[in-house]
Amino acid sequence: MRIALDSISQYSIIRSLLYVENENLYIVGGCVRDLLLNVPLTDLDVVLERKSLSIINNLEQIFGVTKKTLSQFLTFKLKSPKIVIDVAQARSERYEHPGALPEVTPCYDIVKDLKRRDFTINSMAIQLYPRTFYLMDPLGGFEDLKKRILRVNKQGSFMDDPTRAFRAIKYTYRFNLYLDASTEREFENAKKSLPMVSFPRIKREVELYAAEERRLLMFAELGKRNILFHWNNMFDTFDYDLLVEMDRILPRKQSVWCLFLIPFGLEHYFIHNKDKFTVSERRTLEKIFGHGTPEITVGALHKIFKDEAPEGVRAWGLLNGVDERIIDKYITERGKLNPSISIQYIIERVKDPKLSREFYEKIEEALLEGIIRPGEEKEFLEKLLTRLC
Ligand code: CTP
Repeated sequence: MRIALDSISQYSIIRSLLYVENENLYIVGGCVRDLLLNVPLTDLDVVLERKSLSIINNLEQIFGVTKKTLSQFLTFKLKSPKIVIDVAQARSERYEHPGALPEVTPCYDIVKDLKRRDFTINSMAIQLYPRTFYLMDPLGGFEDLKKRILRVNKQGSFMDDPTRAFRAIKYTYRFNLYLDASTEREFENAKKSLPMVSFPRIKREVELYAAEERRLLMFAELGKRNILFHWNNMFDTFDYDLLVEMDRILPRKQSVWCLFLIPFGLEHYFIHNKDKFTVSERRTLEKIFGHGTPEITVGALHKIFKDEAPEGVRAWGLLNGVDERIIDKYITERGKLNPSISIQYIIERVKDPKLSREFYEKIEEALLEGIIRPGEEKEFLEKLLTRLC
């Protein structure tokens, strides 16, 4: 099937790609699927049948790429202010054992590359030069897309890569798809090999859910299918009401992943695996788990949460049954905080950076509590100093 030039060129990103003019280059995977569904493209997946640094240089110029990262899987990630482009060399994969990361080797054949993928709807490509725009669809992905069917490319797909079970649920809800029988069967395979998958890989999938429009249904489906239960046996509860509340208060962005895991009982896992979290994730989770409900004033909240993102504060409030209005008030007031003296001013006065920071925080708390009004900060500092002497 040929794709009409109109539908190709409605996307300015793809119009820009046409300038590469190289038959070695294909758009593939999610972006072909999204193009056929007429939904906005969020990122761009490009495959080169053969390695070509000149195409990569060309892409860098066309898109004003500011950052380039090479990964172990024969791929480059190119980031520009407008878009992320994943460039991969056509490859085949081999899994050393179920749940392992794949060993990849160049295969110099786009069709082979398409067949190694997860679902038929993600296994289509379009060659952008010459401009015939022929849809390469070796597994019938376009037909499945029209019939709204999510079909795995091959039996055992989730055994090799059980994170595909998360992806299946994600696509089902994002695009209103039905699982065909072969995909349904793969969930049993996923459960067998999920315990062998590392925490960061699962975290990544959860992170992606957190940004989805219908994330609540996706999380609910994970619970219904007991998928996370098989993850080191750590999820033995599924508090749906809490999840609904989390969904209501938390913004749709990837960084809220850990807050979404809390209803599944992340605390136990967290305590025993702190090294698996980044410093900022650790800090957020320590705050959420580590503090009882303090006397709830905006000043008290500030003592604990001054550096914390609003979603962290909201999740903590929810889990501790704190009145949402107080949390909202704190977040709003904090956003307006603008003491008329700087830490630098206090350091010059006090000569002790640590003490100066404490004083600065006290001034912020006093402003939040209404103990002082804007403009009275210097006076308040003097009082603090007198008390010290
Ligand atoms: N892929 C796969 N198996 C995985 C992950 C990815 O086969 N576990 C393939 C799919 O063909 C997918 C492509 O790699 O289309 C790119 O992956 P990714 O960017 O994660 O997904 P997208 O299809 O772009 O979808 P999304 O819109 O969810 O990002």
